[in-house]
Amino acid sequence: MHQQAFNAGVEQAIMSEQSSASKAAPPTSSNGRQEPNGFPSGMNPDDNFVQIVDVVKKFGETTAVRGVNLSVKKGELFALLGSSGCGKSTLLRMLAGLESVTEGQILIDGEDLAQLPPYNRPVNMMFQSYALFPHMSVESNVAFGLKQEGVKGGELSDSVNNALELVQMAKFAKRKPHQLSGGQQQRVALARSLVKRPKLLLLDEPMSALDKQIRQRTQIELVNILDQVGVTCIMVTHDQEEAMTMANRLAVMSEGQIVQLGSPHQVYEYPNSRFSASFIGSTNLFDGRVVEDEPDHIFVESPDLPVRLYVNHGITGPLGMPVTISVRPERIALMRKLPEGAYNWGRGKITNIAYMGGYTLYHVTLDSGKVVVANLSSLAIGEIDSPTFDDEVYVRWSASAGVVLTS
Ligand SMILES: Nc1ncnc2c1ncn2[C@@H]1O[C@H](COP(=O)(O)OP(=O)(O)OP(=O)(O)O)[C@@H](O)[C@H]1O
Ligand SMILES: [Mg+2]
Repeated sequence: MHQQAFNAGVEQAIMSEQSSASKAAPPTSSNGRQEPNGFPSGMNPDDNFVQIVDVVKKFGETTAVRGVNLSVKKGELFALLGSSGCGKSTLLRMLAGLESVTEGQILIDGEDLAQLPPYNRPVNMMFQSYALFPHMSVESNVAFGLKQEGVKGGELSDSVNNALELVQMAKFAKRKPHQLSGGQQQRVALARSLVKRPKLLLLDEPMSALDKQIRQRTQIELVNILDQVGVTCIMVTHDQEEAMTMANRLAVMSEGQIVQLGSPHQVYEYPNSRFSASFIGSTNLFDGRVVEDEPDHIFVESPDLPVRLYVNHGITGPLGMPVTISVRPERIALMRKLPEGAYNWGRGKITNIAYMGGYTLYHVTLDSGKVVVANLSSLAIGEIDSPTFDDEVYVRWSASAGVVLTS
């Protein structure tokens, strides 16, 4: 597909995502008429399976969540992402009904959560520390919630069995938690969350107790299991790779607000702020001022570079406006010779090399003092004769590599 047409398509998608983010449909239509199921007529209930409308949460002086609007689709795996203390767990706890909402409304499948008694809420939450009952066997742990509800006999054992089969833990049914690995315990906790067939599953840092290798395997397993069950799932993580691998869509939170919403691809390729760009993946940020702005391109002058930055899409804003151009490390090439064209390059010296196995990160300190990070494959390194410390090189990137950020 033609790159620009592709960009335009994605931008359109992001804009419509964002407008739906900032205006998650309220539960009543403009004339105030509400359908029996809580959805205004004409709306697809599956698109608004979970509706969070203008939700605020205050703990005394602290405002943990500041006016969040969000719709989650039925069957979607949605990730809430953000740094520590930004309000992720608080939002999840409100969805679980474990924390009251200070302002706003939460609807699940068209029903106002505040109106539902706790035992009737179609939600199950797996906590940041998913403690299993240590003295109970795997099967008793999974059966616990159902037993509380009075399920017994064949129905109970079938449900427990099915849940354990699903997470491939049936053969460990008689073991105690301490006889299991971290990843296995995590799967039992998941079976315990799924056995009651919740409409909405909430996972708070589900992988936080696992080491990196099991974590990656478990991420894939979890996605497969959730797919099989078809449950709608909102998970919290502060691991951006985890969110990227697992989620259909994600929201980046900062200080109690959603700052960007979209598919992992949209948020990574088209961050809407310096915060998103640096939070999801790493990036190179060049501060400068707009010196030419046309519908199909923009030129920016930055003290970081000897030449202008050129991006092949325009923005709306006055000349001279301060902007930041974000260029991902994998979009940056190293060259031995002076690049052609009077834009998107800089000259410098290699001041750091981090070998990462599958790729290598080169830190190039430009003449301006700006450090640019380039992510190079072994192939790319071979093509430029394996540059090393103190080598003089040029960094350069294409017009489609940069994203213009105005906040
Ligand atoms: N019960 C409480 N009373 C007072 N303040 C609280 C309470 N619970 C959370 N907070 C505050 O609300 C803010 C958001 O907390 P929250 O637990 O939602 O963060 P988080 O995004 O889940 O962080 P982490 O990634 O560290 O788990 C924090 O400033 C926290 O100190
Ligand atoms: Mg938390």
